Amino acid sequence: MAETASLNIEDKTVELPIVVGSEGEKALDISKLRAETGYITLDQGYGNTGSCQSDITFIDGDKGILRYRGYAIEDLAANSTFIETAYLLIWGELPSEEPLKEFSALFSKHQMLREGIKHHFNLFPPNSPPMAVLSSVLNALSCYYPELMEIEDEETFTEASARIMSKVRTIAAYSYRQQLGHHIEYPHPKKKFAENFLHMMFSQPYNEFEPDPILVKALDLIFLLHADHEQNCSTSTVRMVGSSEANLFASVAAGVGALWGPLHGGANVAVVEMLERISAENLSVSDFVSQVKDKKAGIRLMGFGHRVYKNFDPRANIIKKSCEEVLAKLHIDDPMLDIAKELEAVALEDEYFIQRKLYPNVDFYSGVILRALGIPKEMFTVIFAIGRMPGWIAQWYEESKSTKISRPRQIYTGSVERTYQPIGERS
Ligand code: ACO
Repeated sequence: MAETASLNIEDKTVELPIVVGSEGEKALDISKLRAETGYITLDQGYGNTGSCQSDITFIDGDKGILRYRGYAIEDLAANSTFIETAYLLIWGELPSEEPLKEFSALFSKHQMLREGIKHHFNLFPPNSPPMAVLSSVLNALSCYYPELMEIEDEETFTEASARIMSKVRTIAAYSYRQQLGHHIEYPHPKKKFAENFLHMMFSQPYNEFEPDPILVKALDLIFLLHADHEQNCSTSTVRMVGSSEANLFASVAAGVGALWGPLHGGANVAVVEMLERISAENLSVSDFVSQVKDKKAGIRLMGFGHRVYKNFDPRANIIKKSCEEVLAKLHIDDPMLDIAKELEAVALEDEYFIQRKLYPNVDFYSGVILRALGIPKEMFTVIFAIGRMPGWIAQWYEESKSTKISRPRQIYTGSVERTYQPIGERS
C-alpha cells in the first residue's frame, strides 16, 4: 500500500502520509496541511475526521462490529460483567482473580458520598432534570478531593476513577430519592454494582428491595453494553475537555452534558415517549411511520439510525434478546414492547429506512427493559451515563498521555471588517 497520498492544490502538490490502524482503517494525516498549503479541511459533524489514534474500542459500522480492547461485544455480553469490562477498558487486559477482587473492593470502599455532598441535592428545585443534578454533583466532587485534581501516577488515577465509577450510581440514586422527597438510602456493603444501585433507588427502611436476579443481570448488561463507543459526541467532549488538562471530575461532568441530548444518550427517553405517544393517540404504526417519512412534522423514528452503524447495531440485537427474556421470565406484558416490535418490523421493510441504512440502535429496546425494572424514564439517560463512565475514564486517560490541546479551526462566514458606528448614526 502507498505510504502517502498526493494532493494537488493550486500550483502545489503535497504528500499526505497514510496512517493505517490495526484493523486496516485508513486515514490521511493532514497535520501539516495548513502549514504547507494555507488550507484546512472542512468536515461539519466530523463524519470523516479522526480526532485521535486510540487502542480502546473498535467499531466497523458497515459490518456491525463492536469490540472493546479486541473482545467482541457479544463475547463480553455473554461472559463478562460490567466491573470486569470496566477494568478491561481502563487497563487494556481482562483481569485475573486478584486484581479483579482489588478493583471491585475499591468500588465498595468509595461508594459513599461525603455527608456535605448530600446538601447539594437539597438545593435543586423539585423536578430538576437528573442529568443536570448528575453533572453538577460530579463536578462538585473535585471540591471534596483536591488531591485527585492532578493525576501524576497510576495509583492516583485508579483512586479517582474508582471513586467516580462507584459514586456516580450513588449520586444517581440520591437524586432520584431526593426528587421523590424520600429518605436517602446508603449503599449496601454486600451488594454488587447493579444490585446496589437498585437497592439505593428502591429500598425502604421497612422493606429491602430484592429484585429478581434476572433484572439485576439485565441492568448489568445494559451498563456493559454502554461502557464505551469510541469517539461519539460525549466521549469526544470528555477528551476535548481533558485535552486542556482539566481534571477528571470536570471532564466527565462535561460528558454528561453532551450525553443528555436526544440525538445522543437522551434517545432512550425519546423512544419511550414516542411509544407512549403512539399508544395514547391510538396511532397505527404505519400512520406514525408515514409521519416520520413525511418529514414536515420534523418527527424522527427515535432509536433508529446511527452515525457509524449502517447495517445493524450489535448492541441492539443483544438488548432486544435480553428484553424479551426479562419480560417473558417475569410474565410482564408490556404493550410498549409490542409497538416497538411492530415499528421495527415495518421500518425494516420500508424503502425510506432501507435506502438511508437506518436500523434500530441500542436505545430502541433499552427503555423497555428499564421500564420493567421500574425505573422512570427521567432516569434512563442517567443509567446510560453510569454505564459509559469507564469508557470516558479510559478515553480521558489515553488523551492525558498527549500534550496537545484539542482546538478545531473554522471557515469564517460572517461580516468582513467594518467600523463601529455611534448609536445615533445606525440605521
Ligand atoms: N428517523 C427518520 N429519518 C432519519 C432518522 C430517524 N431516526 N435518522 C436519520 N434519518 C434520515 C435523515 O432525515 C436524513 O434523511 P435525508 O437524507 O433525506 O436528509 C438521513 O436519514 C441521514 O440523517 P443524518 O441526520 O444526516 O444522519 P446522522 O448520521 O448525522 O445521524 C443520528 C445519526 C443522529 C443517530 C440519527 O440517525 C437520529 O437522529 N436518530 C434518532 C435519534 C437516536 O436514536 N439517537 C441515538 C443514537 S445512538 C446513541 O447515541 C447511543
